[in-house]
Amino acid sequence: MHLTFTLHGQPYHYYQAGQTGPILLMVHGFPLSHLQWQPQIDYFQKQCRVVVPDLRGLGKSNSGTDPNLTISMEDHADDLIALLDHLQITEPVILMGLSMGGYIAWQILRKYASRIKSLVMCHTRVIADTPEQSQARIKLAAETCQKQTAQLVEDVMFPRILSPHAPASLVELLRKMSRTTTPEGLAANLRGIASRQASDDLLPKIDMPALVISGELDAISSPQEMGDWARKMANHRFIAIPGVGHLSPLEAPDLFIRHLEEALPWLTGPKNC
Ligand code: MLT
Repeated sequence: MHLTFTLHGQPYHYYQAGQTGPILLMVHGFPLSHLQWQPQIDYFQKQCRVVVPDLRGLGKSNSGTDPNLTISMEDHADDLIALLDHLQITEPVILMGLSMGGYIAWQILRKYASRIKSLVMCHTRVIADTPEQSQARIKLAAETCQKQTAQLVEDVMFPRILSPHAPASLVELLRKMSRTTTPEGLAANLRGIASRQASDDLLPKIDMPALVISGELDAISSPQEMGDWARKMANHRFIAIPGVGHLSPLEAPDLFIRHLEEALPWLTGPKNC
């Protein structure tokens, strides 16, 4: 069911389905929307309650018209907890984040760890941007607002987030997501990603189950980089999916679902099995 509630004076859009089982909060990447998780929504709603937001400024969750706004990873963490509160969800959730969704997951862990029972970290990083990367994103944000188009973001991001083998239909789906978003929302999120802090200090403190999923051809978060930080968490499982880039939930949906389903009893914990 597609739903909205008002957050910061703007409609915050989310999808919710499923009545029973653990709560699976799925947090998408940039410049995407809840549609990034469609195969997993369709599959897991039979055994989980799935809550899948459009992050503020992305998809149908509007962030207003301020061309200079920054939406930080901490802001998104606060929004997601506001969403859980709105839904009166007090039970700890399985938090699944992809890329920017992972950057946000680190902030939820930092501030609201008791709301999470386990993690699924997909195609994400623990380090901050280099000064050059950060400056390039800030420049792209300004140009996106000035030219009032998603095209510039698509030109930079799509070749990075899709593997060279990705079919044209997938490029079209990504375009559908980025074009639902306003230029101001894209820009506010670019500034937020650019200003994010490193989160590697958290890793040795994390003892909840953490499934870490990477892609063999990922140009942003390589399997080697992800394996290196995954090993610093006491209770992790690491998977590298062959032949996919940065978006395995869409590039290899069946394989992704199989890995997640296999890990679900471990992620859910003995009390809820
Ligand atoms: C994402 O998928 O959320 C972005 O690729 C994150 C990034 O560019 O660092």
